[in-house]
Amino acid sequence: MAASLLLSAAIATLFITSPSSAFVSYPEKYASVKSTLPMAKDDGEIITSTRRGFMDHVATTTAAVAGVSSVWMQPTPALAYGLNKANDKLASFGLPALSNVPNGYSALAEIYGKGANRSPLLVAFGFPLDWVVTLPSQDVNGEDGTIQVGEYAKGDTATFFVVPNEGKVENIQEKDAAFFKSAIIAAISQKSNNVYQDFKVTKIEPYTADNGKYMLVDFKYTLLTGAGFEVERKGVASVTSAGNGVQLLWAASIAARYKNKTEGQLRSIVQTFRCYGEGLNFSADLRPAMEF
Ligand SMILES: *[C@@H]1O[C@H](CO)[C@@H](O)[C@H](O)[C@H]1NC(C)=O
Ligand SMILES: *[C@@H]1O[C@H](CO)[C@@H](O)[C@H](O)[C@H]1NC(C)=O
Repeated sequence: MAASLLLSAAIATLFITSPSSAFVSYPEKYASVKSTLPMAKDDGEIITSTRRGFMDHVATTTAAVAGVSSVWMQPTPALAYGLNKANDKLASFGLPALSNVPNGYSALAEIYGKGANRSPLLVAFGFPLDWVVTLPSQDVNGEDGTIQVGEYAKGDTATFFVVPNEGKVENIQEKDAAFFKSAIIAAISQKSNNVYQDFKVTKIEPYTADNGKYMLVDFKYTLLTGAGFEVERKGVASVTSAGNGVQLLWAASIAARYKNKTEGQLRSIVQTFRCYGEGLNFSADLRPAMEF
């Protein structure tokens, strides 16, 4: 297949020319490809849970991969994510296993904030097996980007977000609707080239799991894309306060898909969301400044 030959050539080149030695001590052993996939976050790494998923994804981005000089890769084990792996990570911090992850779902437990520019958090949640995972990227300036999973081609995504300028909230379930509205608006307007309108919170309900307090927030909005299309989207978020801030996982789809198909999926994803900060020893996971 021409695409895979091209890719092989690109990979061969990468192993010779990429600065991958900088990443050798990175704890996760997965393949990462700097991506220019339009639906993915700029500068994000696309990491898939299966080799097949990886190849499918690569087929759509081969041209970009072959042409991008800053791409770096590592050897790839077939399965980089999974419920057992996520639960092992949680257990290593003395935390409970993820509960209520539906059959056939994968899961992740990853550190957000390995770079010195952020406060570290342990973020975990389940997601459909065939969704693609993006993790924050690290460079000399610290960490950028976030933890995101998605079936990007269909517009289904779940994205971790740290609400700016919010400190620790003792009881998130006592916050009012305006607080959640502005937190979710901040989250969905992260991508600067998109504009939204008609944002509405339609339901807010408390959710308590593993001694953590969460608020589940249903919302909808109209996305005005850079290409001038209006897309109605619906989603649900789980908002919590861990460490010294406020965090959320928001999941959304095109409204028609939400109604027909994805509502249950998106609810499952955000209900499995756990975020931990205080009292954890992250020192083994943080990136020493000397690495750069
Ligand atoms: C949703 O279901 C209706 C009726 O089954 C169908 O006509 C429509 O095309 C579906 N929409 C999507 C986005 O799948
Ligand atoms: C945190 O873990 C590191 C090893 O990863 C250990 O050296 C250090 O003593 C631990 N710190 C505390 C406060 O337990």
